[in-house]
Amino acid sequence: MKTVLSGIQPSGQLTLGNYIGAMKNFVKLQEDHRCHFMIVDLHAVTVPQEPAQLREQSAAVAALFVAAGINPEKSNVFMQSHVPQHAELGWLMTTLTNMGELERMTQFKDKSEGKDSVGAGLFVYPSLMAADILLYNADLIPVGEDQKQHLELTRGLAGRFNHRFGNYFTIPEPYIPEVGARVMSLDDASKKMSKSNPNPGSYIALLDEPSVIRKKISRATTDSGSEVRYDPANKPEISNLMSIFSQCSGLSLTEVEKRFEGQMYGAFKKELGEAVVSVLEPLQQRYRDIRESGEMDRILAQSAERARETAASTLAAVKERMGFLMPK
Ligand code: TYM
Repeated sequence: MKTVLSGIQPSGQLTLGNYIGAMKNFVKLQEDHRCHFMIVDLHAVTVPQEPAQLREQSAAVAALFVAAGINPEKSNVFMQSHVPQHAELGWLMTTLTNMGELERMTQFKDKSEGKDSVGAGLFVYPSLMAADILLYNADLIPVGEDQKQHLELTRGLAGRFNHRFGNYFTIPEPYIPEVGARVMSLDDASKKMSKSNPNPGSYIALLDEPSVIRKKISRATTDSGSEVRYDPANKPEISNLMSIFSQCSGLSLTEVEKRFEGQMYGAFKKELGEAVVSVLEPLQQRYRDIRESGEMDRILAQSAERARETAASTLAAVKERMGFLMPK
């Protein structure tokens, strides 16, 4: 059985982009894979976080994982910081990473652009992400398009380690959906939908009220013309909305085109609003139930315990190979 691993940062509200690009695939893959899904709090602190907010967001993301359909009986759902081996292997991976490799990361360039002071953690973040994956010798990593470059680095580091210290790590493969790997902003289809966008109208948060979801979609930017046709080069805004429709309804893009043939944007957006609400409303209900039940503490504790077992054995093997004097 192959191992799947992925993580989501508990910084700000999770969006429909996180759901379509990543979580939806987590749920699908858990059926026939050994899965580890993490709330990557050690990654979140690479930019300043308000402590009370970080704690609340971490609990919220954990509950959202389960509300989205991750079954804690099948999959491990845990906080990254509950498994201290992540930080330790992260350090070892940092020592194998070249500055030039980190300087080429587009996400670092985007996040540090125009800032006077940038934390060193933000710079070395991809080495920690590599450690997350390699600790469990994961085969398959479900992520959105924006993580592809980080995964390339992980593959490079795994290969470098294997070459220098003997074959040990599995070289992981990205698992990126064909439609929905890059859900774009509702006010500008040249930008990725992101929880850090200061305009809340640009994204749909997973916990937005149904009325807010409908309103945001009705206000989403559309291209000139009126035809509901998938053409990302010439009709980027409507194509983005069509991808969202396809992902929320289960219809293919061609089926979406057919369904709205001869109809105007207004009718399409109205149905899109309903399609998104029909996915998010039941998720929100499950979310509220899980938070009220207080069940997450037990799930996180059990999952972290299982994760620590695997992580500790990987870390010991890595340190042994690298030449650390092991405690007797
Ligand atoms: P993060 O927290 O920024 O995003 C979590 C996941 O959501 C995907 N995503 C999107 N997909 C489609 N369209 C969008 N607009 C969109 N926005 C976000 C991301 O691609 C990601 O899959 N570095 C990672 C977290 C991480 C990780 C890992 C992932 C840490 N360790 C190990 C996989 C394996 C991150 O910051 O994701």
